[in-house]
Amino acid sequence: MCGIVGYSGIKSVENVLVNKLKLLEYRGYDSSGIAVKSGENIKVTKAKGEIANLERVVEPLEGATLGIGHTRWATHGVPCEINAHPHLSMNKEWTIVHNGVIENYSALKTELKERDYEFVSETDTEVVVNLIECYSGKPEVKYDLAAIIKACERLDGSYALAVLNRKSDKIYFAKNKCPLYCGVNDGEFMLSSDPICFVGFSNEYYVLENGEFGYYGNGKLFFCDESMRQTEKEPVKLDCSAYNFKNDFSHFMIKEIYEVKDAISNIMEYYSEKSSWRHFDEIDFKSIKNIKIVGCGTAYHAGLVGANIIERQLGAECGVYVASEYRYASTKTDKNTLAIFISQSGETADTLAAEDIACRKGAKTLAVVNVEYSTLAKTADYFLPIKAGVEIAVASTKAYVAQIVVLYLIAARIKSNLGCGETPVKGELERLKNAVTIRNIEHYKRIADELKSRRSLFMIARGADYCTALEACLKIKETSYINANAYYAGELKHGFLAIVEENFYVCVFASDEKLLSKTLANAEEAKARGAKLILTTCCDLENYNKSNFDIIIKTPKTDELLQPAADIVPWQIIAYYISVAKGLNPDKPRNLAKSVTVE
Ligand code: M6R
Repeated sequence: MCGIVGYSGIKSVENVLVNKLKLLEYRGYDSSGIAVKSGENIKVTKAKGEIANLERVVEPLEGATLGIGHTRWATHGVPCEINAHPHLSMNKEWTIVHNGVIENYSALKTELKERDYEFVSETDTEVVVNLIECYSGKPEVKYDLAAIIKACERLDGSYALAVLNRKSDKIYFAKNKCPLYCGVNDGEFMLSSDPICFVGFSNEYYVLENGEFGYYGNGKLFFCDESMRQTEKEPVKLDCSAYNFKNDFSHFMIKEIYEVKDAISNIMEYYSEKSSWRHFDEIDFKSIKNIKIVGCGTAYHAGLVGANIIERQLGAECGVYVASEYRYASTKTDKNTLAIFISQSGETADTLAAEDIACRKGAKTLAVVNVEYSTLAKTADYFLPIKAGVEIAVASTKAYVAQIVVLYLIAARIKSNLGCGETPVKGELERLKNAVTIRNIEHYKRIADELKSRRSLFMIARGADYCTALEACLKIKETSYINANAYYAGELKHGFLAIVEENFYVCVFASDEKLLSKTLANAEEAKARGAKLILTTCCDLENYNKSNFDIIIKTPKTDELLQPAADIVPWQIIAYYISVAKGLNPDKPRNLAKSVTVE
């Protein structure tokens, strides 16, 4: 997590840094700070909380033309001004901002303390900046960049760094396992954790690779490897259309829910081209004996839906794993495995580590990712984009639906490549597009209003509907802090029925026709104990007692394999409106960040 930015140029550096940090705020927002430089004078300003707090206290430093900034999601030490970046070395020669985690920071800190280094913060980052200072004092280390490289050689873990030296007018940078990009434009330089910062700055940017270092200074941009050998890089074109900002919506979350439909259109257009499958079609599917799907959070839930699609379409067994578990489990993975890694950001640390493990075990790895320039998209053997467009809100919405749709297409493609028949995907996706078109917004607002003061909620479901229940709970938990939990409906009598009491809300997901009567029977058991019921279903309820339900959310019917993608949308909207009704910011839930780049 955390976002870093650097700028050198002609504009008011404080404004540039603060404005760019606002774009990176989705990466962490518990504190922020900037360091700007004029001559040998470095001025650091920090604030706890959102960037707006920093903006309020920043004052310009006369003559400052370069600087670095940071928005933090705390890993080492509580969110406070002292732990906020930038951090200075003990002798104030060096200043640093850091995204990532230094795993051996404790040992390094002890070593530095033995050399009389003193620390003011609890962060791992302060160790890095002091290590650089320590190396820069050695006679054999002639260049600033060499000191940074030497320090980085000692680091275990991940980092994207931007570094200033008091006596130099360069911005130095280093990257290992955390994203970092930079660009130049007519005498200006920008460094950032996300290309979003290049919008309005330049039409192209450079993607830093792991183990790469460099600097910008005196109009020169320099990249090198750990031996200080210059590396040649080609810039990447910036797709500005991808970065459409909030427009008239109050929050990114609701804007992005409205974009679910566009995401499906984009997928349909992109995957109707044969060339989009060119690489994927090279896989020898006959050699695949088992399929694994791996992801975290919402991506994991999309994987659960995907596994059901794959098993039903291909008759093949498909295991689904949370990435943080998969990476330490002895799950059978070998050269006959197709391991599918799902991630919106493509930067989730656990998912990247899991991909690396599967790759080393000989599996064919496939990344199903939204951010096309991300690490996962690059490191996996095969890559299929989900084409959802930029997703800013921490709660993943359109990406979830897009992940399911791409998994649906993957299953259909494998089936076709194996000669096992064709799936009428175009018609089914048109149907889904219609189903996710937002109607009844007032109905959802009323439900949100009804649920906003609840401390907990239960969701029950069977089969694939259970995935929808899990994802609905996650959306509600992260945006409105209500303790929502999903259970298999058949498990009701095995424990949690004990919790149900008068006026307790139980949300029932029952779109699977075959399981409808079973699930509704379980719902009645809760009703008999005084529960209030909210039913979400695409099924016809003619033969059922509708009056059992206090609220019904009727969703349009789609291909049953895609139904979870349609049924989640009302709950994304409800979660959004509960958050708004509680006066929270749905785009930035407490304690969370969009991109989890630490384990
Ligand atoms: O970028 P990823 O899809 O790999 O992120 C995985 C999870 O961190 C993410 O889905 C998280 O659970 C979301 N906040 C859920 O809305």
